Amino acid sequence: MPFILTSRHAAHPDSGRVHAVPSEITPQAVYTNRRQWLREAALLGGGVMTSALPWARAQAQSAPATSATVTRPGKRAALSAVRSAVPGALAVDKLTSYEHITTYNNFYEFGTDKSDPAEYAHTLKTRPWTLSIEGEVGRPLKLGLDDLLKLGAMEERIYRLRCVEGWSMVIPWVGYSLSTLLQRAQPTSRAKFVEFISLADAQQMPGVRSSVLDWPYVEGLRIDEAMHPLTLMAFGLYGEVLPPQNGAPLRLVVPWKYGFKSAKSIVAIRLTEKPRPSSWMQANPREYGYFSNVNPTVDHPRWSQATERRIGEGGLFAPRKPTLMFNGYAAQVGSLYAGMDLRKYY
Ligand code: MTE
Repeated sequence: MPFILTSRHAAHPDSGRVHAVPSEITPQAVYTNRRQWLREAALLGGGVMTSALPWARAQAQSAPATSATVTRPGKRAALSAVRSAVPGALAVDKLTSYEHITTYNNFYEFGTDKSDPAEYAHTLKTRPWTLSIEGEVGRPLKLGLDDLLKLGAMEERIYRLRCVEGWSMVIPWVGYSLSTLLQRAQPTSRAKFVEFISLADAQQMPGVRSSVLDWPYVEGLRIDEAMHPLTLMAFGLYGEVLPPQNGAPLRLVVPWKYGFKSAKSIVAIRLTEKPRPSSWMQANPREYGYFSNVNPTVDHPRWSQATERRIGEGGLFAPRKPTLMFNGYAAQVGSLYAGMDLRKYY
């Protein structure tokens, strides 16, 4: 990730290796209806939404739009899901290949090079796995992986992932809205923030023996961000269970925020009255804020955020794409930040 804790990252953070492979994706018509969804989301006003998912209705009334068919790579167990009508990447976006998504990673528990997680994360034991939901909840929960997999209807959601380092991907995740899970625990009226805590086991995760970050990896959201239907608890990608390097067996995906907000391999979710600084804020508060919404007009202190390099599309010298406000999800999430100075609250 972003900054530069080892001599290996001394140049630009976006200097990791990319393994170029041809795309496996066949473009084809599928069944989303973005405009309908936008209308319905606008009606809901962008406040705290519940699991009455607006795109369930949108799907019923939908007309085909352009997207991509997701071909299972056949590397891991299948995880079937229904394609969600939630607007994901714009229709023109091509999916990033499975190879790129699973070999160009940030997962510092396994090392700081982009290729380290693919090389070392096979030591991660994903079963048994327990997630606890605790803190300001009426009903604290401890859930095993099989319960978690059954708890919500699996959807395939194609989202852009924009890393604060200036690169991006388009990923077909499989999961369900985090709100489905949080509602089970019955948040109290004092629950204003939500912490996500990743596993930190030095036996399985060699990077945890280094002092590159204060372990465990911790991230956080405001409760309305956590309850927003776009916020995904992901269990898979490309129609299969997550590979370890992408945060198996379950990780967060918050598509309008820089990628570091999307904590991997989560073991605890804690609802609190006060926010807790995230790992990256503790490591470098000048460079990483709590909100970290994708914003092309607010530069990182050491590089511009106006553009991004799409992994797998042309290498380091390919023309960069313009970065979109809220990573292209402004219509869905912009109202969460009404009246906030996004330069101050970065
Ligand atoms: N979660 C944990 N536990 N540890 C990490 O190092 N890196 C973050 C985020 N979640 C990270 C993490 C960063 S910087 C990014 S960009 C994304 O994961 C990368 O996700 P990906 O490797 O699946 O693309």
